[in-house]
Amino acid sequence: MELAGKVAFVTGAGRRIGRAIAAALAGRGAKIAVHYLSSRDEAENLVQEIRRTGGGAQSFRANLEDVNEIEAAINATLAHFGRLDVLVNSASVFYRMPYDDITERDWDLNLAVNLKAPFFAARFAAAAMRRQGAGKIVNLGDWAGIRPYKSYLPYVVAKSGLIGLTRALARELAPEVQVNCIALGPVMPPDDYSAEEIDRLRQGTLTKTIGSPDDVAKAVLFLCEGTDFATGSTLLLDGGRLLG
Ligand SMILES: NC(=O)c1ccc[n+]([C@@H]2O[C@H](COP(=O)([O-])OP(=O)(O)OC[C@H]3O[C@@H](n4cnc5c(N)ncnc54)[C@H](OP(=O)(O)O)[C@@H]3O)[C@@H](O)[C@H]2O)c1
Repeated sequence: MELAGKVAFVTGAGRRIGRAIAAALAGRGAKIAVHYLSSRDEAENLVQEIRRTGGGAQSFRANLEDVNEIEAAINATLAHFGRLDVLVNSASVFYRMPYDDITERDWDLNLAVNLKAPFFAARFAAAAMRRQGAGKIVNLGDWAGIRPYKSYLPYVVAKSGLIGLTRALARELAPEVQVNCIALGPVMPPDDYSAEEIDRLRQGTLTKTIGSPDDVAKAVLFLCEGTDFATGSTLLLDGGRLLG
């Protein structure tokens, strides 16, 4: 799918990987709905940056735990830009949960943001995509959805579900909309990771590197404009971490 003139909704686009994806899509000529929850200044800053380079962008706030807020943000995007062609589900919650300390709230939050929200965002966005005749949905997964990390149980179960959701949505939304997942290895460790912890992540890959947000953005571009033939797939982008 040609991205120039299209509209992309990117969740969690104020910071980190979501921001790099949004900037890359804008670089290909797509107008960007910059979704955020708390990173309002960062989201506005990205909107201004895209506009300065001649692109189109608008920020939209939504708490992804709330399906009504997801629907309102997608509707506001359609009202603002008049169409929607690409959805990237990048927002997530990720924090350590030792097995014996996992609470019901941990389950609800992890499943809501990491699994339920991508479904509802996809359903609202895909309704517009199907009316238009084409669309792309990219879900940001984790290699640990295949081989679980310890002490992140509800997160890894949600990311495992995201791979299943990708396949199920690919069937539901065919033939107009292609739905794919990118299962990431270490790219941007949490801000509070020490140099030793980051080095341990690096050593756990086969490539002995940490991936870059640019690597992820390139993979998203490939799944959006590089091919229309991939759907239901999960691309491992993990430096070989799964095999390491
Ligand atoms: N970073 C990595 O190395 C890595 C590795 C494996 C997989 N991944 C996956 O790749 C994706 C991007 O990673 P990341 O590290 O950039 O993500 P992240 O920092 O964990 O989260 C991205 C954004 O999600 C948003 N968010 C969290 N809870 C929300 C809620 N209730 N409602 C709305 N937005 C919410 C936050 O937006 P605000 O800041 O606006 O509040 C946050 O900035 C994620 O799906 C992640 O699981 C990343």
